[in-house]
Amino acid sequence: RSVTVQSPGTIANLVCGFDVLGLALHQPFDCLTLKLIDRPEVEIINHDDYGLPTDPVKNVSGVVLLSIMERLHNGVGFQLISEKKIKPGSGIGSSAASAAGAAVAANMLLGNIFNKEELVQFAMNGEKLASGVKHADNIAPCIYGGITLVRSIHPLDIISIPAPSLFVTVVHPQIEVKTADARQILKKEILLKNAIKQWGNVAGLVAGFFKNDLDLISRSLEDVVIEPLRSILIPGFDEVKVQSKTAGALGGGISGSGPSIFMLSASEGIAKEVAQLMSDVYTRLGIDFHTYVTTIN
Ligand code: HSE
Repeated sequence: RSVTVQSPGTIANLVCGFDVLGLALHQPFDCLTLKLIDRPEVEIINHDDYGLPTDPVKNVSGVVLLSIMERLHNGVGFQLISEKKIKPGSGIGSSAASAAGAAVAANMLLGNIFNKEELVQFAMNGEKLASGVKHADNIAPCIYGGITLVRSIHPLDIISIPAPSLFVTVVHPQIEVKTADARQILKKEILLKNAIKQWGNVAGLVAGFFKNDLDLISRSLEDVVIEPLRSILIPGFDEVKVQSKTAGALGGGISGSGPSIFMLSASEGIAKEVAQLMSDVYTRLGIDFHTYVTTIN
């Protein structure tokens, strides 16, 4: 018996909520097909051109499956066929999709013996391998769906937040920003006045989602801590942001650690216009790109 899961891309941080907020997208998604094998090994077959390792200890899905096997300790193993559509290093949770997808598929094969929180724990081993840090802001929405708040990792405390029906436009300029590097450039300390602004915005954004208050969401999509440092790594960032807001987007910013940029809009028409403006910016800059217009999953 085998199971196939579709593991969606995710947007971490949601501008002001570094390492705590995230949302799941309808598109793009990876397809992971998993089956049980009767020897305690993980066999990985990649059906894509990304050149990802097939050695399980070096593979994001692989380490997740190994950690599940370690818990089960019953002599079974897994064969994984991974068909990735989310490009690694794009900033829309490619490693999280591999990690979470593997955990969810394994759980289905095993008769749903683990709850979502345990699946997040297993999947975080994959994030640790990919970025050096066990963050869960991509994994949580990938597993729970919608919008999630990771209030704490130790102990794990994940809260699902009601998702307003918004449209999401994503542009992925084809430049490489490694999460580990994008974390390296951050300052370890921040000014109290910036902290006050930031937690005002995080609280405002969460309240805006609960109240379905689009003006409040829009006002709260501001990041005075991370974006000023990371946006330097993304050519065209300021232009994309200003033009999208002029076109009527509620707001947005860097998707995860970049280089993708996302914008939230109340209507599909605006979201498509935003995609066009993004395309124009990167065409003019001579940088290859992909755009997606999608919704919250
Ligand atoms: N919260 C993480 C970061 C997400 O911004 O570094 C990385 O995908």
